[in-house]
Amino acid sequence: MAELARDEERDLGTERLVTASADDVERAAEAALRPRRLDEFVGQHVVREQLSLVLEAATSRGAPPDHVLLSGPPGLGKTTLAMIVAAELGSSLRVTSGPAIQHAGDLAAVLSSLEEGEVLFLDEIHRLARPAEELLYVAMEDFRVDVVVGKGAGASAIPLALPPFTVVGATTRAGLLPAPLRDRFGFTGHLDYYSSSELEKVLHRSARLLDVPLAADAAAEIARRSRGTPRIANRLLRRVRDWAQVRGDGRLDLAAARAALEVYEVDPIGLDRLDRAVLDALCRRFGGGPVGLGTLAMTVGEEAETVETVAEPYLVREGYVARTPRGRVATPAAWSHLGLEPPADQPALFRA
Ligand SMILES: Nc1ncnc2c1ncn2[C@@H]1O[C@H](COP(=O)(O)OP(=O)(O)OP(=O)(O)O)[C@@H](O)[C@H]1O
Ligand SMILES: [Mg+2]
Repeated sequence: MAELARDEERDLGTERLVTASADDVERAAEAALRPRRLDEFVGQHVVREQLSLVLEAATSRGAPPDHVLLSGPPGLGKTTLAMIVAAELGSSLRVTSGPAIQHAGDLAAVLSSLEEGEVLFLDEIHRLARPAEELLYVAMEDFRVDVVVGKGAGASAIPLALPPFTVVGATTRAGLLPAPLRDRFGFTGHLDYYSSSELEKVLHRSARLLDVPLAADAAAEIARRSRGTPRIANRLLRRVRDWAQVRGDGRLDLAAARAALEVYEVDPIGLDRLDRAVLDALCRRFGGGPVGLGTLAMTVGEEAETVETVAEPYLVREGYVARTPRGRVATPAAWSHLGLEPPADQPALFRA
């Protein structure tokens, strides 16, 4: 169920400008904008400082660092940081992911081919199959894999020693990781949403790399509409660039940013058409709620799952919608964003 929702969100990624997930084409475009070293990585000061200590200490000892777990919502820089870990250590990076590993044997093959000091990036580690997970415990703790030969009663396990290496695990759902797996990471970094000023730095850096002239007020405008997410900021920047090239004079100034984002229906706080349809239905059709998810979804002509996984997380996080046991409720912020007065008989909790 959860995986279905996630895949659906990925599919929608191509159509929706402000989704935090990315499709393959976008991932290719992103590669060019990825910071390569820790000191180019914008924001996340706590994680950056902690990670730099872990890496520098390991480098000075001449041994691989502890395994690193990176958690946080999509598009905040987990993959980027994994690559940076390898770059800072001067090691090569091997990349795989939970869903790519179907059987424990697949993981055994990857592990037994690792060279000393290599970094193994395990993306979406919460989707690793149970048998593979157990193999990983032993590999991470004792640098060993047990290779099973033969079948049934005659099967036996031959222990194979591995050279020391570092696992960098990434997950959008740290809560789904079993405790024994979580415990095997010596360092856990949680990435949080970026502030507008951090996103402005990301945007200026990307504009330099794309070789487009980005005005300071335009960067601020794009940052405000980017939902705290560098991936979205970079995506909106590309759309503003398109607009400036085709409709404007090539300069990315405030007027270009506003005009472009109006064309793409991303409003001043980063809500798109679906988000606004949800708020609109909630306030105008249902008097602010509470209303059930199914009814709300039907009103905006979407699947319940889409509303729940695509629109709601940001609306709830930013305090426009609250989930209550009796259904979804619009907060005063939602009413005022639509330019409406909340009715006097709103639930006491949400009276302004
Ligand atoms: N701190 C940062 N500074 C500059 N750019 C960043 C930063 N974090 C992320 N980005 C940009 O955002 C894009 C998305 O980041 P990344 O792919 O690392 O996210 P992720 O957390 O791995 O997402 P997902 O969960 O979907 O895999 C990158 O291409 C990079 O250009
Ligand atoms: Mg990633």
